[in-house]
Amino acid sequence: MSPVRFAAGDYRHALGQYPTGVTVITARGPDGGKIGVTANSFTSVSLDPPLVSWCPSKTASSLPELENATYFAVNVLAADQHHLSRRFATSAQEVRDKFEGVAIRAGIGGLPLIEGAVARFQCRTVRRVEAGDHVIFIGEVQNYDANGGEPLVFHSGTYHIVTAHPGQ
Ligand SMILES: Cc1cc2nc3c(=O)[nH]c(=O)nc-3n(C[C@H](O)[C@H](O)[C@H](O)COP(=O)(O)O)c2cc1C
Repeated sequence: MSPVRFAAGDYRHALGQYPTGVTVITARGPDGGKIGVTANSFTSVSLDPPLVSWCPSKTASSLPELENATYFAVNVLAADQHHLSRRFATSAQEVRDKFEGVAIRAGIGGLPLIEGAVARFQCRTVRRVEAGDHVIFIGEVQNYDANGGEPLVFHSGTYHIVTAHPGQ
């Protein structure tokens, strides 16, 4: 049976109707270098044990280093951190230092934790699953903190801020 093929732009448009938060996944490379990739594929998977997932593209230039890293951190961006979303969505091959001027502190194993994020989850990768043109990373949360605040939202290809529904 041949795989289903959709018109790429139209299919992306349909997927984009599902709003998400925006995260920057961070890690340390084998040489200690800082890795950071914008991702909206973050999902909570299990509460007990506490498992989360995210999906890097097989074309992400950071993928080899991410696959070698023991830990990753999920930094859930605040509404006023949209510039960080753009910065970390630029390939590491195009930016000399994605972290230049970004306030961070060190987590487990030196994980870069972005200051001002509304929540941060420090995870140990427990499984990776090949899935088409992406890889599903499953991480067990080792530590987290949540300062709260207004999150950044991504919907239909643009950034949004949350407004409470008047009908509740
Ligand atoms: C809002 C948003 C969400 C994104 N989500 C993902 C994602 O879940 N997985 C992924 O591989 N790339 C995602 N990207 C694209 C990557 O951030 C982008 O390809 C980045 O250049 C990868 O960095 P690298 O090439 O340094 O590895 C997203 C980009 C944006 C703007």
